[in-house]
Amino acid sequence: MLLAFADEEALARALARELGMPLAWVAEHRFPDGEIKLTLPPALPGRVVVLRGLQHPNDRLVELLLTARTARELGAQRIDLVSPYLAYMRQDMAFAPGEAVSQRVVAGFLGGLFDRVLTIDPHLHRIASLDEVMPGSRGIALGAAPLLGRWIAAQWPATTRPLLVGPDEESGQWVEQAGAASGLSGLVCRKTRRGDRDVTVDLPAGSVAGRAVVLIDDLASTGHTLEQAARGLLERGAASVDAAVVHALFQGDAVARLQACGVGRVWSTDSVPHPTNVVSVAPLLAQALREA
Ligand code: R5P
Repeated sequence: MLLAFADEEALARALARELGMPLAWVAEHRFPDGEIKLTLPPALPGRVVVLRGLQHPNDRLVELLLTARTARELGAQRIDLVSPYLAYMRQDMAFAPGEAVSQRVVAGFLGGLFDRVLTIDPHLHRIASLDEVMPGSRGIALGAAPLLGRWIAAQWPATTRPLLVGPDEESGQWVEQAGAASGLSGLVCRKTRRGDRDVTVDLPAGSVAGRAVVLIDDLASTGHTLEQAARGLLERGAASVDAAVVHALFQGDAVARLQACGVGRVWSTDSVPHPTNVVSVAPLLAQALREA
């Protein structure tokens, strides 16, 4: 049985369809003080898959604690979590003495609740695989950049090949994977971050003049990373700049600001529900669940 929450309905229905699995909903009530009451279907089969992305992570980590523990009490023996966007993966070291290494803590917490944790493009920068933070081979990391690469290539006639550009060093992996799937070539910029909304992006050597450029990254949050990269590319004469991300977190007016600075189209996968969703990750998740 696939257990899902109403605010991820589209992906839940697509995933249940791909898997041929019955779909049931976790009902949620919010008390005035912020506490959460969850109600699961009272009769659960032995194998349950829970779909819950970790956008808005703090509330959802509590939802997952309540869901996993309750599902086991109701008879589920194996519970897999599908969290297309896995939050807290960027804080992967203590940058100052005393800082929590959130990646390790959150991955360990989820690994203790679920038998498998499937996710897409977690932000693994300084570690090679999820196993390093979620022991017991419980973590399965899938990649959606090839899907974006193929989507991007299909938006132009065969005679026009857009250039993929990663806005920072960490995005090199997604530029490479999207490029391998689509045959598109790419460049990677260098980013300096001074604060949540204060970044500088330095473009690499190589001409972008007259080129159709597509920025590609694992996620956009405030959108400042993409915005700074787009400004630089347009100043250097790019014919157009579009943007594609796996996880469309886009806080507040991020998309409007991108468009105001000259970004044309903004595309994303449906790992996080958002108006920019154009590519579904449901087949990718279903395939991995069948093999897990
Ligand atoms: C971090 O390196 C990520 O890949 C993104 O580039 C970053 O988190 C985007 O954040 P924002 O949209 O707030 O600049």
